[in-house]
Amino acid sequence: MSQHRPALGAVQETLLIPLYGRAVEHRAAEPALRDPRAVQLVEAMDYDFSRFAELPSLTGSVLRTVLFDHWTRDFLARHPNGTVVEIGTGLNTRYERTDNGRARWFDLDLPDVIALRREFFADTPRRTMLAGSVTEDGWLAEIRQQPQRPVLFSAEAVLPFLSAEQVRGVVERIARAFPGCWLALDSNSPELVAAQDQHDALSKVAARLRWACPDIDGVADWVPGSRVIGSHTLTSLPAPVYRGLPAAHRRLLDDLATRRLPQVTGYRMHLLRLP
Ligand SMILES: C[S@@+](CC[C@H](N)C(=O)[O-])C[C@H]1O[C@@H](n2cnc3c(N)ncnc32)[C@H](O)[C@@H]1O
Repeated sequence: MSQHRPALGAVQETLLIPLYGRAVEHRAAEPALRDPRAVQLVEAMDYDFSRFAELPSLTGSVLRTVLFDHWTRDFLARHPNGTVVEIGTGLNTRYERTDNGRARWFDLDLPDVIALRREFFADTPRRTMLAGSVTEDGWLAEIRQQPQRPVLFSAEAVLPFLSAEQVRGVVERIARAFPGCWLALDSNSPELVAAQDQHDALSKVAARLRWACPDIDGVADWVPGSRVIGSHTLTSLPAPVYRGLPAAHRRLLDDLATRRLPQVTGYRMHLLRLP
């Protein structure tokens, strides 16, 4: 049943990698996460996903999602009526995994992605899709029209595709519009960005990483008063996340930790609290 042929721009196409990773993970005997929607979406799409089959970084993308899910659940436990904004949502299904029945939710992505997303997902009174670039202002204005609530901005595997100047602009505008918000993001070291043509998944797509981040403290310095709540590599996940993984995943991470591969040590996921 392959009816949907995704017609996506270069950076937009990258959403298919984590989507496929979650679909593969769902079918594993002991999965780190369940995502039946990802399986349905992959089956419904006319796209050669076999190009991503068996890539080691698929597991990495799944573990990243597990951490971002953990941060989202933590945020909603502290702020059950809070707002979650998925920046560069792709075909992510975090709402399906973490919604608490009360949160307000926004899914932002570029127009062609939102058009594709609308083929599979519908807006509801608590969930709204927004078409636009994170580098523009319109989406922030739409969210500001809502009653004020604590906000988590979750930018999973999105900002590295922007220039450093654009990333700084995004962080500064979010901070100005939503004082006290949380921001989850990920980053790559300059060495990883320089070596991206050898990356197992990126070498299969046209999009290229642009933002090289030597140190998250530099990002926090863009907005004085920002605090880095967490900064993790895949091999230094928060203890509750690591403990919650299946044994095979923990063994893999333990092994990776001893090898100190640059693709692991240079890739980090961060949670910031903006002032
Ligand atoms: C690697 S995918 C990640 C998708 C999703 N966050 C996930 O983890 O499944 C990168 C996503 O960022 C989106 N993106 C890239 N540049 C963007 C921009 N300027 N504004 C909004 N979304 C953007 C792409 O369209 C794509 O959906």
